[in-house]
Amino acid sequence: MLSKLFKVAGIFSEALRDATEFLRFNAYSPFANKSQRAFYKILIEAHTIEKGLSLPNPKLLFGKDKVRFVMNALSRYDIGHSPVPAHMSLGALDAYVNFHARAGAHDPLLDEIANYLKTWEAKLPKPWKGGTREVTFNGQPPNDLQHLMASRSSIRALQSTPLPPERIFEAIAMAQLAPSQCNRQASRVHAYQDRARIQELLGLQGGSRGFAESVGNLFVVSSEICAWGGPGQRNQAYVDGALFAMCLMFACRSMGWGACPLNLAIDHKTESAIRRAGGIPAGERLIMMIAFGEPIAPDTRVAFSPRRPAAEIATLHA
Ligand SMILES: Cc1cc2nc3c(=O)[nH]c(=O)nc-3n(C[C@H](O)[C@H](O)[C@H](O)COP(=O)(O)O)c2cc1C
Repeated sequence: MLSKLFKVAGIFSEALRDATEFLRFNAYSPFANKSQRAFYKILIEAHTIEKGLSLPNPKLLFGKDKVRFVMNALSRYDIGHSPVPAHMSLGALDAYVNFHARAGAHDPLLDEIANYLKTWEAKLPKPWKGGTREVTFNGQPPNDLQHLMASRSSIRALQSTPLPPERIFEAIAMAQLAPSQCNRQASRVHAYQDRARIQELLGLQGGSRGFAESVGNLFVVSSEICAWGGPGQRNQAYVDGALFAMCLMFACRSMGWGACPLNLAIDHKTESAIRRAGGIPAGERLIMMIAFGEPIAPDTRVAFSPRRPAAEIATLHA
């Protein structure tokens, strides 16, 4: 009995420590490292430009505020921290200008961007790793892991045709090869093909604007909370659930489908609304959504989303 009481108290005290640690280090904290914060902020905003360009029909002059923000933030950014935000921003801005040139569009903002890019060419010579790139779904999906991993990208130009349920189960069975703590296998996956329900779910998710209308297959990955107990395990549903979701995305790729992960960085109210709309039982923690389907074209434009050099993220502890 006493040990149970300790566990309950532990859950509250760990939640409090989670909150203080988050407050201390999160993106809005004045105590967080300034360059680190700028790094993430620029990456996030530059990604909205490259993502906009990867949509099936980008709107002319979309995201003007984001474009201005990225130029201003990059001008203040210390490139010595990491050149990746510069590559990503300049590549995205360059692709933005080129997209509008191809569309025959004119606007003072486009001239402003072109001049801005010229000022950077000496500081950071081209080619800039950013903007968009092409991926191909032509031929058989790679059957070795390294190439399969390299061939996966977030695909936002999807056909709405519902995929055969038996093929969807095949992909899910493949994703079940994901490891889980003590082989708990607490991950759950809800698959939807009803267009109205998908639109409702995506409306609650909010991160698929510009391509939601074409989504005809949607997963919601969740994880059963009752697999976990005690304060130390409070986040494990996310760990196992995310590993499962990653395997599900690779499984989609190996089936020749495109897939796009969709965040569920939401509050409890929205989580409950999604559960209600999706017929998902209480007691399942929502991990993420994944839009999937045949790609619209065998050659698809995707956001470049460059990766940092491994040495920037790794610490070799001798
Ligand atoms: C947990 C998670 C949530 C994401 N949420 C969204 C989203 O809401 N909308 C979207 O268009 N892309 C979303 N993405 C896709 C990322 O933008 C993408 O993975 C990243 O830019 C790397 O590109 P890649 O997937 O093509 O390698 C999400 C990715 C992850 C892992």
